Amino acid sequence: MKEVQLHDRHFSVSIGADEIDKAVQKVADKINIDYEGKNPLFLVVLNGAFIFASDLLKKVTINCEISFVKLSSYSGTESTHIVRELIGLDEILTDRYVIVVEDIIDTGITMENTIQKLKHLQAADVKIATLLFKPKSFRKNYNIDYIGMEIPNGFIVGYGLDYDGLGRNLPDIYKVIE
Ligand code: IMP
Ligand code: MG
Repeated sequence: MKEVQLHDRHFSVSIGADEIDKAVQKVADKINIDYEGKNPLFLVVLNGAFIFASDLLKKVTINCEISFVKLSSYSGTESTHIVRELIGLDEILTDRYVIVVEDIIDTGITMENTIQKLKHLQAADVKIATLLFKPKSFRKNYNIDYIGMEIPNGFIVGYGLDYDGLGRNLPDIYKVIE
């Protein structure tokens, strides 16, 4: 079993790159059908979603546009839920079909904030695509339109996700060894 150490914690492989690729393909297949002819605008939430977005968008075969926003609410292994501003949003969203791309939805607070900040920008439609979803941790009741995989509550790293800055470059997803 592959293991890594990041800072003070040890992690072991939980979801391999092949399995991740299948989940990404599944999301892309649905989007390719649902957004044909709609020229959607993907809003990729940095930093975490950069690898998912890169793999996903290579599998999206319809015409689309891509932009990036940044926000951060996490420090260490526990969400602080202090959601900072959405930065970098310089697209006009009026009448656009927007798909927000996230790495993971945990409690759901970060995404709720993002959606609220986009609401007054008069997009035709805002949908959510996330690679990972922790249903047992989710505390909100909005709909998540595209989910790559549902996972249990433990803290994970890799494939864009970090533990205090480390681990984003790992091609597999690792879970913390308690
Ligand atoms: P939420 O507001 O609780 O849904 O947290 C969402 C954000 O927290 C995500 O965009 C991630 O950046 C981060 N996050 C949530 N769970 C994990 C995890 O297991 N590992 C690394 N980052 C996580
Ligand atoms: Mg994130």
